[in-house]
Formats: sequence, C-alpha cells, structure tokens
Amino acid sequence: MFDGSPSRREFLKAAVATGGAAALSACLDRTPDDSVPAGTDDFDALPASQHAWNDACQTDEYGNVEMPRHQVLLYLELDRDGPPTESDRSTAENAFRVLDRAYERSHEGLLWSIGYSPRYFDRFDDPLPEDIDLPEPRALSPFETPAFDRQDALVHLASDRADVVLEAEQALFGEVDTANGITVDADLSGVFSVDARRTGFVGAGLPAERQSELNGIPDGNPVPEHSPLFMGFKAGFAKNQATEEYVTIRDGPFAGGTTKHVANVRQRLGDWYDEEDQYHRIMKLFSPGHAEQGLVEGIGENLGDDSGIDAMLDRIRDDAEQFGHVGHAQKAARANRDEDGNVKLLRRHFESADDGIASLHFPSLQRGISDFEAVREAMNGTDLTDIPTIRQRVNNGILEYLFTKHRGNFLVPARRIRALPTTNGEVPIIDD
Ligand code: HEM
Repeated sequence: MFDGSPSRREFLKAAVATGGAAALSACLDRTPDDSVPAGTDDFDALPASQHAWNDACQTDEYGNVEMPRHQVLLYLELDRDGPPTESDRSTAENAFRVLDRAYERSHEGLLWSIGYSPRYFDRFDDPLPEDIDLPEPRALSPFETPAFDRQDALVHLASDRADVVLEAEQALFGEVDTANGITVDADLSGVFSVDARRTGFVGAGLPAERQSELNGIPDGNPVPEHSPLFMGFKAGFAKNQATEEYVTIRDGPFAGGTTKHVANVRQRLGDWYDEEDQYHRIMKLFSPGHAEQGLVEGIGENLGDDSGIDAMLDRIRDDAEQFGHVGHAQKAARANRDEDGNVKLLRRHFESADDGIASLHFPSLQRGISDFEAVREAMNGTDLTDIPTIRQRVNNGILEYLFTKHRGNFLVPARRIRALPTTNGEVPIIDD
C-alpha cells in the first residue's frame, strides 16, 4: 500500500534503482487514493514535441520548472543489423501507445521520450539532412576520458511516482500484462535490448535522503535537507534556461524535434563540503560577485527565477585576478546566449546513486549539439588559465569536483515520427 511513510518512500526509491519485477510488484499495491491519472487514446491531442514537458511539470512559486522526482534512462540496442523494418516500427509505435494510453502525460503520470543516436542513423543509406547537428559524442575537455554512449536509442522515463517509472519500464519490455489498467498488447522485446539502465532522482529532500553511505559524499550528511541537488543549491532558474520552443528544430523533416546530449558526471564532494565554506561554494558555483554581494541565501531559492549571472559575465577576468576564482555558471553562461540574448540550452539534470556513487545525469536539450559543445568548452575555462591562480581544474568553477564518465548524443524526433524514423524523417508504417 502507498502510505507515503518515510520507510515506504525509501523503499520506492530503492526499487527504482534496483528495477526488476520483484521491486515493481512490491510497489503496485495501489489504493484508490493513490491511483495514477489515466492516459488517452486521443493521440493527436498530445503535444507535437516529445520534449514538451514543461507544461506538464510542477513549478515553484517563481515559475521555475521542477523536473519529475524519479527518472530512468534506458540505453537500447536494436536487435537486428541494418535498418529497422516496418514491423519493428509498428511494434515500437504500438508499445509507445501503451504508455500514452496508460498514463496521463504529466509529472503525476508519466513524461517520457525516445531519442536516436548518430550510429542509429548510420544504419540507413541516406545521411541525415545537412542541417541536423548530431555528431558522434566526443571528449569535451582536455582532462576527461568518458565512455561514449553509442547505443541506438535512449528512452527517458520520468514521474513524481517511483512506481509509475518502474511499471512503465516493465510495460515497455512486456514484463507486465497491464500498465495502470491498460493491456500491454505490444512491447519492445524482440526489437530492442537494454544495454544500460541508469536511474536517478531530483528535487527537494531526495539528495539529502540518499547521501549517507554514498561514495563521493563525505561523512556527516552535509547535503542540506531541502536541496534538490547533491552540491547543495538549486539550479535551472527559468530565466537561465532555454524555452522548449527555442531548442526545437524549426525546419525540415525533423521540425518539432530537438537534440539531446546526455553526460554522466561523477561527483567527489569531499573537499566541497569539508574544505570550502558557503562563501566559497557560492563563488565557485555562481560567481565571485554573487559571494561578495551576498546574493545567494541558503540553497538559492531567494534568487527567484533568475540566477543574476548576466551581470557577472564581463567581469570574469577581473574576478579571476581579484578573487582568484571564477564561477561555474559565470563561465558557462558566456557561451549560452545568442546574439539576441536568448538562452541556448535547456538543462534537465538529475542526481544518481547508481552503484553507490554520487553522480549527475546531465541531459541537455538544444537545437544542435554544437551549441552544447560550445557551452561545455566555455565551462572548461581554459581561456582563463593564463591568470596564475586559475588552473585547469582548480579555482576554476566546480571542475575540481566533477568527473565525466559518459557522453552520448541523440536526436529526439517529433512525436509523430518517434518510432524508428528514417534519415528522411519518415516512419513508413504510420505515413501509409
Ligand atoms: C554537479 C554538477 C552541476 C551542478 C551542481 C550545477 C549547478 C549549477 C548552478 C547552481 C547553476 C546556476 C543556476 C542556474 O542557472 O541553473 C548552473 C549554471 C549553469 N550550468 Fe551547471 N551544474 C552542474 C554541472 C553542469 C554541467 C556538467 C554543465 C554542462 C555544460 C552545466 C551547465 C551550466 C550552464 C550552461 C549554466 C549557466 C546557465 C546560464 O546560462 O545562465 N552545469 N549550474
């Protein structure tokens, strides 16, 4: 029974991390009170873009979007060589429709998407249209050696309900007969296999609850109780995020889609909590100006809907000379505006305790992957290392604490062509 007690919540989180049928069946004792809102048969009423999640998420009092609290990433390999067949496509689309029918498309039901990698599109004779900016993943700093996620596809499941994420995953692979009362009449087994399964969580309270015994978080439970992230601050202020519309591909056969970079970043927060004080944490994460002017209280809720970083960009070299530090947001934001001042990336990161290690899953949406690469290069701050105090990973934002383990690039097509699209943006089985 879903009684909302702390032990029950603990259990559900552990269940998402573990996965599997046993974990799910233990979750599924639903009472009428915790019923999950149903989905729809009226597929055309769903948003055209798979990545249009914001309107279906909760917002805080300032209008900042809060990502669903429980999330799973499934990295999938196609079972066959060469391009997918029409039968693969119709099976996949029917499996996806089970999710649409079963769960309301919201943080209380399920938000999800599927994206496809450059390697997937290499299965076709024709290349992707030239203006689709989807390179293979590569190392984005001189000091990282990530593994590259080149699996064919990435399914991303998200919900405030741990049991929904788990059940949706099992429905996708035919491990349950029904999903929220809807018959699972098609599933992805036989089309795709799961190569990697990664899980996580985000939101006030969850990192603090998970911190003890986690590799990367020092003893003493230092993560503030209400912080949505392990590093102890809020992120993703509305004015520092691209809009969904901005990151949406405008023209061509993939109009309505977006590109998605997903990094997995290990965090080693021993020194972050044991050697630094709050003043220096604010300096490193936001900027020296934020620390000096006392702009950030607690976990940063007082910032409202804007981190205020734009005022700190031109002074970055002076800050480095005067304070011996540059801020993470300050460095990254330099490359995160277009000529009209619009923000380019829509960051949707969440934390992970997979394998007992504190890490960050970092999905970022943008119109083209080069936008992400440019921002990540700006975050490296290599251009500032001529200033003696700024070293490649020391006094240089938060780089000292982050270790990139995986990178992958995906194209998240519009919903209409989500089932194994061709490089021409066609899904023959549906277009017929
Ligand atoms: C544990 C890791 C990380 C934490 C805790 C973190 C946290 C933050 C915080 C608190 C801010 C300022 C508030 C905001 O605008 O959201 C920020 C800004 C930013 N972060 Fe991170 N971040 C992390 C990793 C990354 C990574 C790996 C990237 C990759 C490029 C990144 C990209 C950015 C960008 C682009 C901004 C500036 C937003 C703007 O343009 O105003 N962050 N981050």
